[in-house]
Amino acid sequence: MRVNLFDFYQEVTLRYLRQNHGLSGISKQLEQRLCNELARLRQDYRKGIPIDYSDKHRRVAYALHYAPKHAVIWREYAHLFGHTANQNLDLNLLGPGPGSELFGWLEGIDWANPGAVAIACIEKEKSWLEFLQCATAMYQETTGIAIKGTFSTDSSKMIKGAHLLGSFVLTDMGRSGELHTLGRLVASANRPLTATFLDAPAYTNKQGATCLVSTEPALGFTSLKGYGPDLRAAILREMDACKPLCCRYDQFDVPNINAFFRNYK
Ligand SMILES: C[S@@+](CC[C@H](N)C(=O)[O-])C[C@H]1O[C@@H](n2cnc3c(N)ncnc32)[C@H](O)[C@@H]1O
Repeated sequence: MRVNLFDFYQEVTLRYLRQNHGLSGISKQLEQRLCNELARLRQDYRKGIPIDYSDKHRRVAYALHYAPKHAVIWREYAHLFGHTANQNLDLNLLGPGPGSELFGWLEGIDWANPGAVAIACIEKEKSWLEFLQCATAMYQETTGIAIKGTFSTDSSKMIKGAHLLGSFVLTDMGRSGELHTLGRLVASANRPLTATFLDAPAYTNKQGATCLVSTEPALGFTSLKGYGPDLRAAILREMDACKPLCCRYDQFDVPNINAFFRNYK
């Protein structure tokens, strides 16, 4: 069954607030708080400071505003790559947060016979775990695809040889001055593997300078600049088809997307 990714993240959010915070919905007061937090998060992304996701309201605002859009982008790219899977699938996820790349990728797969998905999540911010658990439980109930996973800050916990996906994590690492560690982080942990990252082409560093992700010498990724689906149209179609249960944050920019690939031998 095909999932509307905006409906999905709204429902996951409501479940998360109910199960983990005893809230029965999104009150006007909470909605205002989420809007304020989203505005602060947007400013932080522009300032080029390390992004802190430890605040619950910030994570919920992110999950409602950014996660479904990123998930649609991943689904469109999975379609573009003609991605297929047999019965089972193993994935490594770097910086999944609310799991946008996971659910987008799974929705874009042409399954021969849907089976079980094993994921290893390497995530710096431990407090995303509960949200991601709610999301995987709901995806499983909706689609019948079983997802089993581990969640760790330690890259050696990756599944050996499984495809590594990373969504908007490179620019976050750049803002924290950590991008140069990526090659070592993924390559030394589990070879051979293939990595696919979707991200904006550039970020602002701590000194306020604009830096291109693709010029990080340790990476050597291939960039598909200027090649890709009409992401804005795909996101708008998905938004139009969803049933808004709570705040939707209609205003959005679609960043230029670069896709980065590398095979680590
Ligand atoms: C912009 S969010 C992207 C979340 C999700 N992948 C998406 O596309 O919506 C970046 C995520 O990467 C995580 N992150 C940043 N640096 C990291 C690192 N060095 N190792 C693991 N996770 C990291 C952050 O905690 C955050 O959850």
